[in-house]
Amino acid sequence: MPRIAVLASGSGSILNAILQEALPVSLVLTDRPCTAAEIAINAGVPTDIIKRTAFGYRKDSGDNWNRRAFTEAVHESLVNNRINIVAMAGFFTILHPMIFEDFGGKILNIHPSLLPAFKGASAVRDALAAGVQVTGTTIHLATETLDDHRYIIAQVKVAVHSTDTVESLWERIKVHERLLYPALLRQILEGTIRLEDFRD
Ligand code: GRF
Repeated sequence: MPRIAVLASGSGSILNAILQEALPVSLVLTDRPCTAAEIAINAGVPTDIIKRTAFGYRKDSGDNWNRRAFTEAVHESLVNNRINIVAMAGFFTILHPMIFEDFGGKILNIHPSLLPAFKGASAVRDALAAGVQVTGTTIHLATETLDDHRYIIAQVKVAVHSTDTVESLWERIKVHERLLYPALLRQILEGTIRLEDFRD
C-alpha cells in the first residue's frame, strides 16, 4: 500500500477529516507551527515541522528566500519517511520545481475553486468578487505551474448564495472538501484510482 504524506499550513480541518476517516497517514509535514501540526501530533501521526522562516522566508520576502533549500528539506523528509504519495491540504508554500524530479505525478493538491477558474491564493474572494453563481473545489495533480488545471482528478460544484461572505462561502466549500479528499485518498490507497491514469 502506498505511504501517504499530508502537507498543511493552517487550521488543518481537511487533514482532520482525513484522519477521522482512519486513513493511514504516514507523515504530516507543515511549514510552520500551526493547528494542523497539533492535530497530527494529538492523533499520534509522525509530524515534521520544517519552518520556512528558517530558510529566510518573511511576509514581504517575495522570491528573496531559499525556496530550493526549504524544498530539499521537505524532499528529504518525504524520502526518509518512505512516502509515495503527497496530499497537499492547505499547504501555503509553493515548492521549488526540484520536488517534481522524484515526486512528479505523485503530488495532489486541493484548491477551493473550479479550476481553471480562480487560480491563486484568494480563489474564494475572487469568485465572490466576480459574481459567479457556482464555484467549488478541485483536486488535481500539482506540477511546476501553480494551480495547474491539466490533471484534474475530481471536482465538486458549490452554489454561491447572495448573502455569502468569503468566510461563509469558503466554509461551505470546505464541507465538500472534507468529504471529497478522504474519499479520493481511500480510492487511491485501495487502487481503484491510479494517479498514472491522469498524466499524459
Ligand atoms: C482548503 O479550502 C483548500 O482547498 C485550500 O486550503 C484550505 C485548507 O483548509 N487549499 P484547512 O486548513 O484544512 O481548514
